[in-house]
Parts: sequence; C-alpha cells; structure tokens
Amino acid sequence: MGVSRIGILTSGGDAPGMNPAIRAVIRTAQLYGIDVLGIRRGYNGLINGDVTEMSAETVSGISSRGGTILYTARSPEFATKEGLEKAHKTCKYLGIEGLACIGGDGTFRGARDLSEYGVSTCCIPATIDNDIACTNYSIGFDTAANTAIDAIDKLRDTMQSHERCSLVEVMGHRAGHLAVYVGIGVGANVILVPERKIDFEKDVIEKIRMGRIHGRSHFIIIVAEGAGHSQEIADKVREETGLDPRITILGHIQRGGRPNARDRVTASRMGRYAVEVLQGGRSNRVVGIKGGDLQDFDITEALDMQKDLQEAMYEVALALSMRG
Ligand code: F6P
Repeated sequence: MGVSRIGILTSGGDAPGMNPAIRAVIRTAQLYGIDVLGIRRGYNGLINGDVTEMSAETVSGISSRGGTILYTARSPEFATKEGLEKAHKTCKYLGIEGLACIGGDGTFRGARDLSEYGVSTCCIPATIDNDIACTNYSIGFDTAANTAIDAIDKLRDTMQSHERCSLVEVMGHRAGHLAVYVGIGVGANVILVPERKIDFEKDVIEKIRMGRIHGRSHFIIIVAEGAGHSQEIADKVREETGLDPRITILGHIQRGGRPNARDRVTASRMGRYAVEVLQGGRSNRVVGIKGGDLQDFDITEALDMQKDLQEAMYEVALALSMRG
C-alpha cells in the first residue's frame, strides 16, 4: 500500500545536489497527491519534531544552491534505542508514513532502523566520497571533484613559477575515489589512496626522480585524507628528495558550491525514483545508478556490499604518472 504523507531529510555531511534532490521529491510527491513534511537537521529533527511544511513553491529555485535547505547533522542520539523511539513517536504523531532520506551510509543505517518500526524508508545516496557500494555514483561527487580541480589548477600555477612541490589533501573519508578522479583531472605526479598499500620509495620517490630526469621541476602530490598523515608524507618527501612540499588541505570547500549539471540531473532522477518506491508501498530501499539506469536495493544488503576503487580508473592514474 502506498503512502499519503512522507517526510524528507538530509543527514550526514552535505553534498552539492541535495537541494535538487529535495525539490524532486517534493514535486513528484505532489504529482501523486502525497503530502511532504521537511524534517530539519537530519534525524535530530525527527527526534525533536523539528519539521516544516513543504510545497512545490517552497522548493522553487533551489536546484542551483549548494548545501541543503533542510540543514543536516550527524545524530548520535538516533543511534540509540531511546532516540529511535522518539523519532518513531514523532512520525506517528505527525502521520509520517514514509521517509525519503538523503545522505551516505550513516543515513542509510538510520533509515533501516526506522523501517523496522513500520515507517517506510527510501534513501538517496549523496556524498562527495562516492563510497556507497550499491551505486556507481553518489550525488555531489562530480561538483566536489570540479571544485578540487579548480583549486589545484591554481596551485599548479604558483608551484610551476617557483619550481615547488605541492601536496594536496582531498576528502573522501576512508576511500580514494575522489583522490583518483581529481588526480587524473589535474595530471598529478603522485596519488596516494587508502585502498592501495603505499610503497613510499616506488610510489613517491621514484616518480619524483623520474620526473626530474624528464625535466620536471614542479610536482603535485594528491593524498586522500584516509591514506596517511599529510605532514608526515611531506616530511619524508623533504628528507628523501630535498624538495620543500607546501601542504594544502582543501577541506570543506569541496563540499560547497553550486551543484553542476551532473549532480542536478542525477539528484532530480533519484528524487523522483525514491518517491515512486514509497508510493509503490516498498520500504527499506536505497536508490542506486548502474550503467546510467536507476535501480533500488534493500538497505541491509546495500550496507553489506563492498566498494573498491574502479580498477580501470586507478590504472589510468598510474599509467599517466609513470614519468613523474
Ligand atoms: O562524508 C563526507 C565528508 O566530507 C568526508 O569526506 C569527510 O571525511 C567528512 O565528511 C568530514 O566530516 P565533518 O564535516 O563532520 O568534519
């Protein structure tokens, strides 16, 4: 049986494209005659009854805006039985039968737990880390990669003028998808990711040596945040090569900014799909995209899936950095 009133929330780290996903959920729900309540500040909003009426008008013009108009949070309380029970009470009190939850795997775990109380849930993957195993693509990744590439292009200009080495730390949590993608995009000399064991001599020093042999006098090293400590890596580079790496931690700038076309369109498709899942009476689902097509998965199964680096992508990164 379908749903007549749903809630929508964004949770965990924000990602560019969350707003067009919110818009798509609300506009699609309206087409099916489903009421939507906006839950503010992630699962905390469910616990505290922090909700707002949403309509087609309240989401007008938000597709181009970064961040999330619903605010977001990580909610340790929601991970407790008491927190979950409070959230369930809010759903019952407000007549929320279904929930569209936008975020990463922490968000999915919350949705799975709530579905056990009888609230239908469907998740939309949004994280710049792109580390969700059931989907090739998570909303926000492409915009974040472009933001990082823009920043590193600027760094390259000054590194080249001064014949220096730049070590740039990019986000990604425990995954290196963003680092590899950005590294290929900027033509990095070295890319270090948590998924591959680092042989410092071979993966870093040898590449710098090769680069020098081929006449290179400036270097870009990309380090995924989960791959190691940037200061320690820079110190080792200094000791072994005599270069004096300048460290830039791109940090949260990667999560901001206007969502690009890919993120707006993917978010719009996924938002619409999620409402159709709930309208079709299904629960505990997460939307994924494979080969350009949308599918949905059981959340528990999705959380058990593992995601490695795309080998073909990693090989491109390696091959193109062989000469340092
Ligand atoms: O999951 C998105 C992400 O930006 C990760 O890349 C990063 O490790 C983490 O969130 C940072 O979290 P916070 O904003 O809570 O510091």
